[in-house]
Amino acid sequence: MAAILLLLLFSTFHTAIAQHGSANISLGSSLSPTNNPSLFSSSGNFAFGFFLEGNGFLIGIWISKIPEKKVVWTANRDDPPLSRDATLHLTVDGLILQPTEGQEIPITTISQSASSASMLDSGNFVLYDSQMKIIWQSFDYPTDTLLPGQQLMVGKELYSSVSETNHSTGKFQLIMQHDGNLVQYPVASSLTAAYAYYSSGTFTAGDNVTLNLSDDGHLYLLNSTDFYLKNLTNAGLPANQSNIYRMTIDVDGIFRLYSCLNGNSNWSIQWSSSNDKCDPKGICGLNSYCTLNDEQSVCSCLPGFDFIEQDDLSMGCQKNFTSGSCQSQKILTTFTMYPLENTIWENNPYSIFNTTKEYCQEACLGDCNCEAALFIDGQCRKQKLPMRYGRRKLDDSTIAFVKVGTRIITCILIYRHRVWTYKKISNQRSMGLTEDIFLQSFSYDELEKVTEGFKEELGKGAFGTVFKGTLSDHRVVAVKRLENVVNEGERQFRNELTMIARTHHKNLVRLLGYCYDGQNRLLVYEYMSNGSLAEFLFRLERHPTWDERVRISLGIGRGILYLHEECETQIIHCDIKPQNVLMDKDLCPKIADFGLSKLLKSDQTRTFTGVRGTTGYVAPEWYRRLPITVKADVYSFGIVLLEIICCRKNLDTNASMDEIVLVNWVCDCFEKGELDLLNADEEVDKKTFERIVKVGLWCIQNDPSLRPSMKKVVLMLEGTVDIPVPPSPTSFLSSIIASSG
Ligand SMILES: *[C@@H]1O[C@H](CO)[C@@H](O)[C@H](O)[C@H]1NC(C)=O
Ligand SMILES: *[C@@H]1O[C@H](CO)[C@@H](O)[C@H](O)[C@H]1NC(C)=O
Ligand SMILES: *[C@@H]1O[C@H](CO)[C@@H](O)[C@H](O)[C@H]1NC(C)=O
Ligand SMILES: *[C@@H]1O[C@H](CO)[C@@H](O)[C@H](O)[C@H]1NC(C)=O
Ligand SMILES: *[C@@H]1O[C@H](CO)[C@@H](O)[C@H](O)[C@H]1NC(C)=O
Ligand SMILES: *[C@@H]1O[C@H](CO)[C@@H](O)[C@H](O)[C@H]1NC(C)=O
Ligand SMILES: *[C@@H]1O[C@H](CO)[C@@H](O)[C@H](O)[C@H]1NC(C)=O
Ligand SMILES: *[C@@H]1O[C@H](CO)[C@@H](O)[C@H](O)[C@H]1NC(C)=O
Ligand SMILES: *[C@@H]1O[C@H](CO)[C@@H](O)[C@H](O)[C@H]1NC(C)=O
Ligand SMILES: *[C@@H]1O[C@H](CO)[C@@H](O)[C@H](O)[C@H]1NC(C)=O
Ligand SMILES: *[C@@H]1O[C@H](CO)[C@@H](O)[C@H](O)[C@H]1NC(C)=O
Ligand SMILES: *[C@@H]1O[C@H](CO)[C@@H](O)[C@H](O)[C@H]1NC(C)=O
Repeated sequence: MAAILLLLLFSTFHTAIAQHGSANISLGSSLSPTNNPSLFSSSGNFAFGFFLEGNGFLIGIWISKIPEKKVVWTANRDDPPLSRDATLHLTVDGLILQPTEGQEIPITTISQSASSASMLDSGNFVLYDSQMKIIWQSFDYPTDTLLPGQQLMVGKELYSSVSETNHSTGKFQLIMQHDGNLVQYPVASSLTAAYAYYSSGTFTAGDNVTLNLSDDGHLYLLNSTDFYLKNLTNAGLPANQSNIYRMTIDVDGIFRLYSCLNGNSNWSIQWSSSNDKCDPKGICGLNSYCTLNDEQSVCSCLPGFDFIEQDDLSMGCQKNFTSGSCQSQKILTTFTMYPLENTIWENNPYSIFNTTKEYCQEACLGDCNCEAALFIDGQCRKQKLPMRYGRRKLDDSTIAFVKVGTRIITCILIYRHRVWTYKKISNQRSMGLTEDIFLQSFSYDELEKVTEGFKEELGKGAFGTVFKGTLSDHRVVAVKRLENVVNEGERQFRNELTMIARTHHKNLVRLLGYCYDGQNRLLVYEYMSNGSLAEFLFRLERHPTWDERVRISLGIGRGILYLHEECETQIIHCDIKPQNVLMDKDLCPKIADFGLSKLLKSDQTRTFTGVRGTTGYVAPEWYRRLPITVKADVYSFGIVLLEIICCRKNLDTNASMDEIVLVNWVCDCFEKGELDLLNADEEVDKKTFERIVKVGLWCIQNDPSLRPSMKKVVLMLEGTVDIPVPPSPTSFLSSIIASSG
């Protein structure tokens, strides 16, 4: 309401004064926002006085001829806007502002006594002494604009405004340097070549060079003997009172010559210091970088970062992950390096060395102080945050690596997964949601019929014997008769099973139903026609092809990742081994037997329990009675991974002495660079083989905290992150012996 009122007042007085057209004021005159707010030049092109800014007023000069009132000069631009009670007086001491009754702020600094003032048609506001000699002029104190007849003197600067509606000092400056060079820098940077983003190139011209703008829109640099050093724009534009020119360093950091030619009511750009809106350093804030999109600048955050202010992207970005404490031991599992190609940044390293791209990443990942690294022409430059002045430049070969907490990755995966689940559920709605989420309950008699009296045994596992069966709708199923189960109520039994039934992942065997009938406990699973991975892998006839092995490894990894991080209740499998991975008809691996041993809620991941699992695959912490976490599964997966890619069991007593324990042999070969020995007969892709070996060796580290999380494992297998060289292995043999004991 108040703002509207002020606006009304402002425009009313504006016209009133314009009609008076008084350019001169004498001692004792005053201006105020509500009464006599401004003074016009005799042509009416320019006005001096109070203008609206935010919810208040500032004092300045603007071009009044054009409806869009372009402010060309602002007094005390960084002071807060004034209230409508403010007044401006012309006294012998110059212009004195009274923000409120009793307060006095000088707007002009003069040594002689003033006797009058005038708003000139050039846009210059001047104070005269009694001899009509100019003792102060606004042209000597430019803010963001030069007008014809105004000079940028040596040592003087123009600063951009914050925005079109906020005339406080913005982010960019243009300096007429003492070396003769006219240069642009971001504010608050050091005034050295490394930070400059525009330069006239006249750095040998010496002192006292000035930037002149003439009446005909000619913008040029002059040395002290009036020699034309450089013409930024050409002379010859029409020069008369109906044409207005101005040179402004715009909010976006580029300085431009504008014209408003006779009859037009808008500005057109005659010349720009640059056509690339990403040029001004710092146009995007800290930790973000500028990309050109259709000639407009667009700011993007570093990976893992988020905008501080969604409404003002130029504010920059902040970490969107909690980095936690940095211990070099754990750094591999809590961080990852993200590459950003063709981006350039402020070059502000604390360490520089020549190396490869790969090692540059590893070096930063392993260094707690390193938050990002730039790889430029064979040099690695470790840096700390924040990253400044980022921009994408397709012809630049610099690669930036940013260290990001791996929590971020979880979020992305979970997000994708949720979308997928949602789609899946909504797709199935018409087909009967019940079957998808709820378990079918069977009586013992029914299952006896389904399995034809438990005739065909498929296998025997830790929890019981599995039989083949056929449901009345002809679906083939595997029925597991549980043995030695804890006697618990049906509700609890069902609850636990519901949890398992809610896990939907293509690498997990689906639970379809159950039987809770007297003492009988049975589970009904989908049937996997191609048996277990163990049979598939260790049989003698046909080994799986290399591609099959890689695909199977990834599938198992993704299945475990789902159990660990993506289902509603975290599930630690505790018995990952080839016998517990089943193969469907398309040779897609599916993990079986999960969720039965113990459902661990995510807030109880550390529990002490007796050893479970299978010798050869169990992690050393089981024997050391250390807390069991998801990392126990990572260990087992590591063993399985090496078995898969080498197509042999971890323990093979038939092998030669050095090769009895697969993981020891793999380690030896890896250390000696002789990985070829492990797959002598094969069409194996050597690079992938080495990568998977490295993943396997990371997984089977003795110290659980050194093992990567499953999500990291999957990313490494997928090849989306680089894999550091695993630490020198600590006696695998001892842990194998321990496992056998
Ligand atoms: C302002 O004062 C100057 C100098 O006295 C005079 O030449 C000019 O005509 C005056 N302008 C107006 C509009 O009174
Ligand atoms: C102008 O911008 C500055 C710096 O961002 C801010 O401190 C000030 O409050 C703004 N002024 C107005 C009137 O919005
Ligand atoms: C440069 O600008 C100043 C101030 O407007 C003017 O006095 C001077 O004549 C100009 N120099 C040239 C060579 O145009
Ligand atoms: C620059 O101007 C200053 C002040 O007018 C003068 O003292 C100095 O000698 C000048 N320098 C050059 C190189 O002309
Ligand atoms: C200005 O430039 C001209 C041409 O290069 C040169 O002759 C003259 O000496 C320069 N003036 C000064 C003060 O350096
Ligand atoms: C710059 O402009 C001036 C005035 O039009 C002209 O005399 C001079 O030759 C021009 N200099 C160059 C390098 O174009
Ligand atoms: C000013 O220049 C414009 C365009 O060059 C022309 O149309 C107009 O008549 C001129 N005005 C005066 C007063 O000379
Ligand atoms: C602004 O100027 C351009 C030419 O520079 C003209 O085409 C356009 O119509 C003008 N717009 C307005 C609103 O005057
Ligand atoms: C930042 O993190 C939050 C919460 O983890 C997430 O919802 C959001 O999508 C993330 N933003 C970006 C840009 O990654
Ligand atoms: C590092 O590489 C740069 C250029 O790639 C080369 O000039 C420099 O001599 C190298 N330094 C060392 C110590 O090898
Ligand atoms: C998988 O099982 C199907 C049907 O039981 C069989 O025909 C096929 O040969 C098996 N595939 C492999 C690779 O063992
Ligand atoms: C063990 O080695 C012997 C001789 O090398 C071979 O005949 C036998 O088939 C091997 N047994 C197994 C299980 O690999």
